[in-house]
Amino acid sequence: MACFLLTTLFISFHALIPSIHSSGHASTCRSFCGNLTVDYPFALRSGCGHQGFRELLFCINDVLMLHISSGSYRVLDIDYAYESLVLHDPHMSTCDSLVLGGRGNGFVVEPWRAPYLNPTPDNVFMLLGCSARSPLFQGFPGKHTPCRNVSGLGCEEYYGCPAWDVIDPRRDGPVYRSGPPDCCAMPYETIKSVNLSRLDCQGYSSAYSLAPLKVSGPGQWAYGIQVKYSVQGNESFCRACEATGGSCGYDIDGNNDLCMCGTWNSTSNCDTGCVMQSTQMHSAQENGLQR
Ligand SMILES: *[C@@H]1O[C@H](CO)[C@@H](O)[C@H](O)[C@H]1NC(C)=O
Ligand SMILES: *[C@@H]1O[C@H](CO)[C@@H](O)[C@H](O)[C@H]1NC(C)=O
Ligand SMILES: *[C@@H]1O[C@H](CO)[C@@H](O)[C@H](O)[C@H]1NC(C)=O
Ligand SMILES: *[C@@H]1O[C@H](CO)[C@@H](O)[C@H](O)[C@H]1NC(C)=O
Ligand SMILES: *[C@@H]1O[C@H](CO)[C@@H](O)[C@H](O)[C@H]1NC(C)=O
Repeated sequence: MACFLLTTLFISFHALIPSIHSSGHASTCRSFCGNLTVDYPFALRSGCGHQGFRELLFCINDVLMLHISSGSYRVLDIDYAYESLVLHDPHMSTCDSLVLGGRGNGFVVEPWRAPYLNPTPDNVFMLLGCSARSPLFQGFPGKHTPCRNVSGLGCEEYYGCPAWDVIDPRRDGPVYRSGPPDCCAMPYETIKSVNLSRLDCQGYSSAYSLAPLKVSGPGQWAYGIQVKYSVQGNESFCRACEATGGSCGYDIDGNNDLCMCGTWNSTSNCDTGCVMQSTQMHSAQENGLQR
């Protein structure tokens, strides 16, 4: 009964001041870091965003950082329309320099988070200086390699980079003789996780195609790890929440979706679905009445 009363109060309040729908509660969880906007499903505050992305992003001196099991990455871009982000690892090799000695992060996510974050199929991982004992080269009889080009990006072209001026690489090819190639390109789906020590590799580079733009060689490639994010096909909750002026979040104890409606939280949206907790109800009701 109290819940119904509260809901009614909020609906009439919204009706009186329509602008609260667009500029009010919806900004509770949105934040900025440097020139990047952090919005659903991401958040910098606990309880905001989608639970699959909890404890993932941190803003440190205006630099947005992403933390997963393999380490910390700078977030260079978040594309909300394509649901992707671009990560930078300072110990990743690029066209200008090779970083060997196993210092790169690679890319490994916690198993529980894996469904939510995956490098895109257009993203190539070029594994550098991997030993013949590497799991990459096992199970391919006759010294065939599993290495291949990904979205037109691959090692054969990468060897043309200035970074290789100091090393004469052992080249790629469908079959090798003395040892595996110094660079082996693979899509993420094939390896599932890029763990340099497990793969017994010295380093890696990562690039992604800017398709449909045609780029002229590895000096023009975009270096970084392009990651697709996904809330697992369940966008309807947040859409309904935001449509009623709420901010999408989750209950940090139970990890259930929550719609934050300013002074109270709903399990559905800001027009219905009170969370039945007497203390919360009491204070929310007082706040509602004070307005
Ligand atoms: C954000 O700032 C960085 C430099 O800190 C710049 O390279 C980048 O282009 C900027 N991005 C946008 C979208 O303005
Ligand atoms: C609503 O949920 C958020 C996130 O779990 C929490 O931080 C906040 O305290 C809750 N607000 C109320 C009024 O219960
Ligand atoms: C990478 O693999 C090594 C050796 O198999 C293991 O000890 C380490 O925990 C792995 N790292 C991550 C981030 O999973
Ligand atoms: C990748 O593409 C290059 C041409 O850009 C070609 O020479 C090379 O053989 C290809 N490598 C593989 C492994 O298919
Ligand atoms: C989305 O989540 C709701 C509960 O929040 C659940 O009832 C529904 O089945 C989910 N839909 C999909 C497609 O997972």
